[in-house]
Amino acid sequence: MKLILIGGALTLAATIALAQDFGGQEDQDYAAQLWQAMQERNLAGDDAVQAFPYEGTDPHGMMLETSYTDATIDGHTGALVIKRNYGPEGVTVDQVLGSPGDHLGAVTIMFRRGEDYAPDSGNWFWAKYLPDGSLDQTPDGMPIAGKAQGCIDCHASAEGEDFLFTTNADLR
Ligand code: HEC
Repeated sequence: MKLILIGGALTLAATIALAQDFGGQEDQDYAAQLWQAMQERNLAGDDAVQAFPYEGTDPHGMMLETSYTDATIDGHTGALVIKRNYGPEGVTVDQVLGSPGDHLGAVTIMFRRGEDYAPDSGNWFWAKYLPDGSLDQTPDGMPIAGKAQGCIDCHASAEGEDFLFTTNADLR
């Protein structure tokens, strides 16, 4: 009986791992390549170019900055949307501009990875980085990179079926 129970638990764990089709080694490596590409172009990291932050809402934080560009990874060029999430609650524009590094909570990005990558979710690769470029994790310890279900579930409600809230522009 005990064995059967353990078997059941293992099957369940495997099922959950399969259902969560993100955060594996390949996704982590890809996210690292993207961070590197962003750093090289001063879109992330200590030398990141600072744009004007605006007030946001949950879940991305109270003060945000979003930029739209593209990037080339493994020979594929696609749209890259970068959102910097500042905090804590109540932080002002002046405080963020005065010392962005002290207020950066996370960097969330969407990268259009290619036609066949994820046709059901706009072919976006999703990632959530901490300010140092490492990946944030879900509550159960999965690195947030790839077809991140939590991101997709909410962004699915964005107008225009492109999974983008801030724009319906045709970003490729
Ligand atoms: C509960 C809903 C929700 C979840 C979950 C969510 N987002 Fe968002 N996201 C939004 C909303 C609303 C906006 C637009 C408003 C704003 O600027 O915050 C947005 C904006 C963005 C943008 C700017 C492009 C756009 O859509 O306009 C990026 C990039 C982004 N989110 C990435 C992520 C990533 C990566 C995750 C998962 C780690 C995530 N989001 C999870 C609601 C969500």
